[in-house]
Amino acid sequence: MSLFSRLQAELAQFQADGVYKRLLYLDGPQGPRARMEGFGEVIVLSSNNYLGLCNELEVVEAGKRALDRFGAGTASVRFICGTFTVHRDLEAACARLVGTGASLSFVSCWNANEAVPGTLLGEDDIIISDQLNHASIIDGIRLAKAITKCQTGVYRHGDLADLTEKLSLAKDRRVRMVITDGVFSMEGAIARLPEIADICRKHDAVLVVDDSHATGVLGRTGRGTAEHFGMLGEVDIITSTLGKALGGAAGGFVASTPAVCDYLTQRARPQLFSNALPPTVAASALASVEYLERHPERVEQLRQNARYFREQLLARGFKPLPGETPIIPVILGETAKAIEMSRQLLTEGVFVTGFGFPVVPQGQARIRCQISAAHRRDDLDEALRAIEKVGQRLGVV
Ligand SMILES: Cc1ncc(COP(=O)(O)O)c(C=O)c1O
Repeated sequence: MSLFSRLQAELAQFQADGVYKRLLYLDGPQGPRARMEGFGEVIVLSSNNYLGLCNELEVVEAGKRALDRFGAGTASVRFICGTFTVHRDLEAACARLVGTGASLSFVSCWNANEAVPGTLLGEDDIIISDQLNHASIIDGIRLAKAITKCQTGVYRHGDLADLTEKLSLAKDRRVRMVITDGVFSMEGAIARLPEIADICRKHDAVLVVDDSHATGVLGRTGRGTAEHFGMLGEVDIITSTLGKALGGAAGGFVASTPAVCDYLTQRARPQLFSNALPPTVAASALASVEYLERHPERVEQLRQNARYFREQLLARGFKPLPGETPIIPVILGETAKAIEMSRQLLTEGVFVTGFGFPVVPQGQARIRCQISAAHRRDDLDEALRAIEKVGQRLGVV
């Protein structure tokens, strides 16, 4: 069978299995409500626009000004000719935000996660990863293993006894690196950073935290998982995205010591062989960080909205996974039920994604509601009414 006919057959099978993803098109800005082609205005409970910065005026204006000042593209990789002053300003702002000595931007956090292990480790080293870490971490580790021949290990999700055991068995390694999500995106659970950091200290391990769902979200002023636990400055390496809470733009960064960032500048392949963030995007990202620094009340609003939504779901008989983050999964059981609930909610004007096996374990299919600081009370109430109506129709409450 040729490649093309095999792909066609597999696509048909995805459809038959009910796992085929249909792209939904927005015909306007991302926001608490958005215009979706074919569905009109919908309440969005399925975006990482946690602080509502995607369409914040000063963030958008910063991108427009940068277009006039710097032009559209970078025209090469940054060590050749693609570094603009706005990249330097953005990197200083990201480091300030997350409490490190330096940061280095990448075109995505995916790239940042690919760069860290593959560049910093060697064949005498080991990286140990939480089982539920994001796909970009998993692929970054696979790549590191292929490139550097480093050892790799996985500890059961959140099982710190397992982490301790894996570290104890790695005493002979030159470097032990432990990597965890700050917030796990399918659960909304927060990593137990104080204990993980303590274990890393005891085993002389380097701690890396991917704070993509925590930057702008956790901590009183949105500085992430470290601020949440009163541990600013205690994480060795932080990776994060500029495309979620700081969603005025896109991109990612690694934040750490100046030496780590300098080394990545010298050696990280996604830096050396790929163009930098377009200056317009870097300028909007910088404006997002500055906006967050001036508006910590947005973070508090996000927290209040998430708390309200969680309480209201409970009051209506749903069983959201317990937690403190704006990621609120409601477990429904079978994949087909989650997909159907998501489909029916969209026809009721609420955009929320259903996730099933293999993205989440068998029997734990769910809809995942994501709350934004930009949601008004009436957005949340209207969404809750629709969730209750569809939930009753499907017999899940
Ligand atoms: C934990 C985590 N890390 C990294 C990424 C990738 O971020 P980006 O979109 O900047 O590549 C995501 C995005 O889904 C994520 O959830």
